[in-house]
Amino acid sequence: MALYTNDSKERVRDAVDMVDLVSSRVELKRAGANRLTGLCPFHDERSPSFGINPVEKVYHCFGCQASGDAFTFVMETEGVDFKGALEHLADRYKVTLELEDEDPQAAERRKRRERLLELLERTATFYVRQLWESQEAAKAREYLAARGLQEATLREFRVGYAPSAWDTVLNGSRRAGFGNRELYDAGLAQKSQSSGRIYDRFRSQIIFPLADPRGRVRGFAGRTMGGEGDRRPKYVNSPEGELFHKGKTLFAADLARAAAAKAQSVVAAEGYTDVIALHQAGVRNAVGIMGTALTEDQIGELARLAPEVRLALDADSAGQTAMLRAARIAAGRKPPLRLRVVGLPPGDDPADLVQREGGEAITRLVESAVPFARFRVQRRLATGDLATAEGRDRVLHELREDFSLLEPSAEREELARIAASRLDLSPELLESLLARAPARPGEPAGPDGSARIAAPPAPRLGRRDPTERSFLALCIALPDLGEPALAELDPDADLSSDVARRAAAHLRARLRSPTEGLDELYDGELVALVRELAVRATAMTSASRRDFEIERLQLALARLGREIAAARAQGAEIQELAARRSEMRAHLDRLMEQV
Ligand code: CTP
Ligand code: MN
Repeated sequence: MALYTNDSKERVRDAVDMVDLVSSRVELKRAGANRLTGLCPFHDERSPSFGINPVEKVYHCFGCQASGDAFTFVMETEGVDFKGALEHLADRYKVTLELEDEDPQAAERRKRRERLLELLERTATFYVRQLWESQEAAKAREYLAARGLQEATLREFRVGYAPSAWDTVLNGSRRAGFGNRELYDAGLAQKSQSSGRIYDRFRSQIIFPLADPRGRVRGFAGRTMGGEGDRRPKYVNSPEGELFHKGKTLFAADLARAAAAKAQSVVAAEGYTDVIALHQAGVRNAVGIMGTALTEDQIGELARLAPEVRLALDADSAGQTAMLRAARIAAGRKPPLRLRVVGLPPGDDPADLVQREGGEAITRLVESAVPFARFRVQRRLATGDLATAEGRDRVLHELREDFSLLEPSAEREELARIAASRLDLSPELLESLLARAPARPGEPAGPDGSARIAAPPAPRLGRRDPTERSFLALCIALPDLGEPALAELDPDADLSSDVARRAAAHLRARLRSPTEGLDELYDGELVALVRELAVRATAMTSASRRDFEIERLQLALARLGREIAAARAQGAEIQELAARRSEMRAHLDRLMEQV
């Protein structure tokens, strides 16, 4: 179901500034005339193996083998689907998208969805106006002010107020042409069990709009102010439906996204007011998990925002359980999501803390968040019974599990020192006790203390033919030499892998615009290789004719090597082949010396 025309997509691709786009996520450094590299946004690394080709508008990581174009870059980094990426790029580079003629059913569905989103959007605006302008909302305004939340912050979050009448939103929406069905499906109306009539779902409540990462309102949360006779639960959310899924939502993801990308870290708090208070205190990368039952989907959303999460959850047992669960899920991700814990005073949530001690108190705590493993160890030491030998043994037993999750590192070393001193053991004795079989074989952990479940990354595919890759890349970099060389190439004999042969065939036709038409190839392996070659080529633009000759010789040598091995396997004569090889080697040596 193509929604936008193919032409729209190509116009977007043309308009994209790849350097600008990638720079929003990766600090690119110039490493050559046309060569830009940086730390890969798709895996954890300390030295840059990620590169782009700004002309072909593709990227490739030599570390994790991620590769793609502007569209996949946005899909991966923003966590959107292809359509979302197209819209994002069209918006960013000012291209007007044109719609394909849709099949009537799909068009119907899309229009319906757009209407529901429009209804939610105008309802959000309505609630905001109510909060700041209506008489009735005076107590809501007072309540929010008393909690230390400023008008500018509340307006940014579009906090609103739902009036007490049973039908304000209903009537207003009907006047604007929306029907009962739409009101119900948008989650704004609910049905009376007895009369079957529908009425406003949110009444006499402070309203927090729940938007998706693109800022489109999907639902609302209403908070009662706890007046006498109000027996409703503190919070009521929009029902689960086609637009709203609580378990997939992070509150304020839209507002936190840019700051999280910049900081490469996202702060996760429990409640709406916590997030608003955090933003007001200057922690602009804070989002809300809306309770403690952090879901796997939410962790996925967090990972889309940044490679590190700082959990600012209550240190009570529910918060603890949530953190442990988060640690397990985070560890299972590839790349693992790093987890840190913000050390909130017991029983305090960020909103209370900001109100009582000011914004600086919370920013300090967020900045000094500790790796999850350290937090666990410190907590065991703080809560365990260290006064008796028996108690210390119990703590030691628990610590064995924690330490089994930690790889040798400075962090582990330091934790062991702390533990030894608190348990009143010599560091040597502690180490030997810890070194015994762990209490429970758990997951190994990264040096930063983030538990890691999986073994080291899977061995890379197709690493056997670096010569072929650099030869093909060099053909792209120096097309005047590459063209005749490719024409002369005997792909079956000169190249060892099938994908390299397909790449050579592709480049014969498209050497000067290698990534053009790639999408239509439906050959993922080939597409990835061509992108990789295009990025490799950016490092080679100043290569000389001699470099090219060296590359060709190396290719020929590799071919000879294969032929010799084959001959040997068949018990055939290899003398002649071997003589040719040493001749070629000598030639190569002479050329290399000149470099
Ligand atoms: N929550 C919810 N439904 C409830 C209770 C809580 O969705 N019935 C979610 C809300 O997102 C809430 C969060 O869990 O913000 C944390 O709950 P709680 O600590 O009870 O509320 P606070 O956020 O502290 O609310 P406030 O500061 O307004 O008292
Ligand atoms: Mn609270």
